[in-house]
Amino acid sequence: MSQKRYAAITGAGHYVPPNVLTNADLETMVETTDEWIRTRTGIRERRIAAPDEFTSHMSTAAARQALANAKLAPEDVEAIFVATCTPDMIFPSTACLVQAALGAKRAYGYDLSSACSGFLMALDAGATAIESGRVQNALVIGAEKLSAVTDWTSRDTCVLFGDGAGAVVMQPSERPGMRSSYLGVDGHQADILFLPAGGCRLPASEKSVQEHQHFIQMAGRETFKVAVNTMVGAAQQALARAGLTEADIDWMVFHQANKRIIDAVAQRLGDGTTDRAIVNLDRYGNTSAASIPLAFSEAVADGRIQSGNKILMVAFGGGLSWGGAVVEWL
Ligand code: ACO
Repeated sequence: MSQKRYAAITGAGHYVPPNVLTNADLETMVETTDEWIRTRTGIRERRIAAPDEFTSHMSTAAARQALANAKLAPEDVEAIFVATCTPDMIFPSTACLVQAALGAKRAYGYDLSSACSGFLMALDAGATAIESGRVQNALVIGAEKLSAVTDWTSRDTCVLFGDGAGAVVMQPSERPGMRSSYLGVDGHQADILFLPAGGCRLPASEKSVQEHQHFIQMAGRETFKVAVNTMVGAAQQALARAGLTEADIDWMVFHQANKRIIDAVAQRLGDGTTDRAIVNLDRYGNTSAASIPLAFSEAVADGRIQSGNKILMVAFGGGLSWGGAVVEWL
């Protein structure tokens, strides 16, 4: 009988653009206040990519750091999975552009589109590729230039989003680093969080531009309600599949959409505290598919996440889509 193969995250990296957009800056752009944004979302500032800086550039920077962290060279990489809803272009995929920029000569790759849940979908794809034995070294990236699809005249959404990237390296391991993965989608509520134009349903036209259809549309209040319940359910499923309880978890790395959502999910899952929740949305806002790997990589880099720690990752986003994963940082 062949021995079971396991997958683990063996390196992490991240990148954010240097340009900071503060809540005070937004006060000059739309009718809002720093106080409203801080108390309703927890966000203080976000990063905005330069006009000539794209998702592939941010992905590549994060990937280089993750490879260095895992002590691998670009030539070692065999697969590149990029989760993004803001690819450089419809095709070729961002993964192809990252492959070229890195010089990852042996790699295949593709993009995954699942909005804010994209990274956990890509992590599952990476783990499956490793566990199947087809791939030895995979790069899993979450990256977004949301500033390009944000309506900067709408206070309902423009205060929420930011740009950035996070990446992890996955490799085979003797013990399971990827302890569980649980994913789900429900297209019945596709219209509470979506980007209507730019696909074949509503190609770019003068009308689509005039009507701001190339920007993220969101029913915030409805999304909030579904997000909390769905994330709690996804967390419970991921824990059950790992054979663990919430008490076994050292750190919670949740999608960074709203501090109130993170707190509500953390409180409902466990002992009522939020101490183990890693939060960086005060500095970066909601970076969609980038938010989990960005928060994870920062916590690895600053030493909060230590060897042997078990991390619960949970995401929720447009689709609707959601995911949970339990990862041990070996
Ligand atoms: N500044 C000041 N006032 C504002 C702003 C703003 N930027 N935005 C809205 N308001 C006003 C509204 O007009 C409303 O005024 P009214 O009471 O006079 O009608 C009031 O503030 C309250 O609005 P709500 O929408 O009820 O505010 P809420 O507390 O729900 O917060 C928010 C809005 C932050 C969007 C919240 O609902 C949220 O975080 N939703 C979930 C977002 C999310 O999880 N997205 C998923 C991932 S994103 C992705 O997949 C790309």
